[in-house]
Amino acid sequence: MSNLNNRQWLFVKRPIGPVDESCFRRVEVGMPEIGVGQIILQNLYFSFDASMRTWMNEGPNYLEPVVLGQPMRSVTLAKIIKSRHPDFPVGEIVMGMNSWEDYSVSSGEGFCQLLPNIPDIPLSYFLGALGPTGYTAYFGMIDIGRPKTGEAVLVSGAAGAVGSIAGQIAKLYGCFVVGLAGSKEKCEWLVDECGYDLAINYKECDDLDGKLAGVFPNGIDIFFDNVGGATLDSALANIGNNARIISCGAISGYDAGENPSVPIKNHWMLLIREAKMQGFLVSSYMHRAVEAAEYLGTHISNGDIIFREHIEEGFDSAPSVLKMLYAGKNTGKLILKL
Ligand SMILES: NC(=O)c1ccc[n+]([C@@H]2O[C@H](COP(=O)([O-])OP(=O)(O)OC[C@H]3O[C@@H](n4cnc5c(N)ncnc54)[C@H](OP(=O)(O)O)[C@@H]3O)[C@@H](O)[C@H]2O)c1
Repeated sequence: MSNLNNRQWLFVKRPIGPVDESCFRRVEVGMPEIGVGQIILQNLYFSFDASMRTWMNEGPNYLEPVVLGQPMRSVTLAKIIKSRHPDFPVGEIVMGMNSWEDYSVSSGEGFCQLLPNIPDIPLSYFLGALGPTGYTAYFGMIDIGRPKTGEAVLVSGAAGAVGSIAGQIAKLYGCFVVGLAGSKEKCEWLVDECGYDLAINYKECDDLDGKLAGVFPNGIDIFFDNVGGATLDSALANIGNNARIISCGAISGYDAGENPSVPIKNHWMLLIREAKMQGFLVSSYMHRAVEAAEYLGTHISNGDIIFREHIEEGFDSAPSVLKMLYAGKNTGKLILKL
């Protein structure tokens, strides 16, 4: 019987333009061994996050590029199956950054967080609404957006994992909230279930600048931007006085082989509207994770915030699942169950 029972997806080619299956190679290796102070994790779920495409590029980023020939990585939920570490007992579940493989070794340092066992909360929620995704929406909207009753809010990537929560938080603050999304079904979901006031299918809008001018006659007060590029430019053309632009992501550039900072024509509007544009990384807010978890947990339990998961299954499909994010094929937080 073969003892090569640890499947891995190696990262073997840096994509130029869209990522595809040829960037990865599946191999099988032996079970890892551990020393004192280490644990073996059995990965249960892989999280798929838009920024993963940027980790495949060389050049400056907030994380080191994935190394060619090494396994691809993502945030995972994993069970501790062997431990020589006093703080990480066998049977506990951890969230952390791990390789695309069945079994990973960790020393518990860095991003390797024990999860609470809360009955009635599906484990996968800790990757989504009650994890980095929800925290991103919360800190971006609350800390940078600072919404006030009656303000006009635009969210791009609105039907995605981060965007759908960001808009619902603004609704809880009494704002007028408009979303941009890439299909009729996504737009209907935003209005009918998430409580957005309006949703625009940007793929069927020839003149987004003009459309936004009609929807926001007094200008946009808060723009929660997940997309960047031309969408950001259209929003800039329509910002109101003292607007806040939350630069959360720039997915329109990630898979296009372009630098995300594609030419922006309307940055002048920041000056004449005395507006602010601020980027942020959710990792910088982790010391306030309990605050976000309490806010999101309460509003999800009350039904004030709804959250959609898109769970695919099977280790072998990891590369094709990754592609879904950049084609808009996911409906909610994209997760792979191994
Ligand atoms: N700052 C932080 O710390 C932080 C943390 C987490 C995530 N983020 C950012 O948040 C954003 C959302 O990430 P997510 O993981 O929640 O993904 P997601 O929104 O669930 O999925 C990505 C969605 O983006 C849209 N999209 C894809 N390509 C696009 C394009 N070229 N133009 C416009 N829209 C496009 C698609 O929806 P449509 O069908 O609507 O096009 C797709 O479903 C990303 O930009 C990510 O980098 C930032």
